[in-house]
Amino acid sequence: MRFDIEDYKSRTDRLRWDDLDFGAFTDDPLDGDTLRVIEYMHDVEHHTICYLRDLLVTPAHADPEITAFLSLWAYEELWHGEALGAVLAAHGRLSGQQRVAAMRQRLGIRDRIRPLLSALGSTVVGERLVALHMTWGAINEWTTQAGYVRLAQRSGTRCWPS
Ligand SMILES: [Fe+2]
Repeated sequence: MRFDIEDYKSRTDRLRWDDLDFGAFTDDPLDGDTLRVIEYMHDVEHHTICYLRDLLVTPAHADPEITAFLSLWAYEELWHGEALGAVLAAHGRLSGQQRVAAMRQRLGIRDRIRPLLSALGSTVVGERLVALHMTWGAINEWTTQAGYVRLAQRSGTRCWPS
């Protein structure tokens, strides 16, 4: 099965949530465990750009189809994080730029050397490192999706067609 980047380009959009009733959280707030999971998901969604940073120092940046996909994907992921941030903010929890900045500050040296390791690794093994990155990214997407489904099940919500 071949991925159709032109089809993806024509269909992609940012997530919109202006039709959600955030006032309902005042009377019926999410429980602490659910909010903790949403905080984690918020952080993961906002961390996508850091994954992208590490990938773009590999030969992936030379492939226009891959970079088109990654550009749109990163845009979508940003809005996932923003939507979760809106839910956290409705519960008085830290979210958005303040939370993301603090999280990135805590990542320390390991995060700072990742692009160097990625560039060095791709110099040594070439496109195989890109394949590894993309595989890792796909696994992250699948586990994140499974996490959202589990969160929806736990809260008794149906999140998308099964
Ligand atoms: Fe996402």
